[in-house]
Amino acid sequence: MEYKEVLVYSNVKVQDDIYVLSLEIEDDVRAGQFYMLKAWEEEPILARPISVHSSENGIVKFAYQVKGRGTKILSSLKAEDKVYVLGPVGNGLYTEKFKGKIALISGGIGIAPMLQIAKGLEGEVDLYAGFNKSPYLIDEFKKYCKNIHIASERDTAYYRGFITEIFNPFEYNIVICCGPEPMMKRVVDMCKIYATPVYVLMENKMACGVGACLGCTCNTKEGKKRVCVDGPVFKGTDVVF
Ligand code: FES
Repeated sequence: MEYKEVLVYSNVKVQDDIYVLSLEIEDDVRAGQFYMLKAWEEEPILARPISVHSSENGIVKFAYQVKGRGTKILSSLKAEDKVYVLGPVGNGLYTEKFKGKIALISGGIGIAPMLQIAKGLEGEVDLYAGFNKSPYLIDEFKKYCKNIHIASERDTAYYRGFITEIFNPFEYNIVICCGPEPMMKRVVDMCKIYATPVYVLMENKMACGVGACLGCTCNTKEGKKRVCVDGPVFKGTDVVF
């Protein structure tokens, strides 16, 4: 797999350090997959792994948080600018196989991959989204989710606390989770009590994005696995957090 040059369709700031970058990409993308993105020719800045927020009609959208030099450069992109992309990478989720009542649980920018996942699910889907401050990217979920639950540590308009405090795995056939590891560990532990199947999307730092450098491994019951090609989706009970 090689990097290809694509064009920016739009790059929209949705809140403080949260942006949605739309790129002209014609690929077939599975929910949960990601791309390595760079808007620069050379290192020292490595390409950034950014999960697919949605994909349709030749436009792939990426929701991302500005956290360092690479994402800062991405945030400055304008329509028609060039971006180098490698992907789609990762196993993704075969959402069409999932039936019944499904909970999507996100923490912070972990909400990014959930939209494409919600779009592919046929069951009854509820979103549980936790934020540090005010929520973002929520409106687009209204079309695909029956119920939307929001928790915030600082915005008093919503449940004050962690999203895991208002989620009950007993109500669901399948749970899909993306966010900070302590939150995903908590969700997996909660799901174990009721034997509810749970999938987690790991978000480790990456270098090559193609399985070659071993820079992205996570611990599983079967030993170390590469998040970029063996994941980013894992059965929650397989991951050793
Ligand atoms: Fe190199 Fe995953 S980023 S092996």
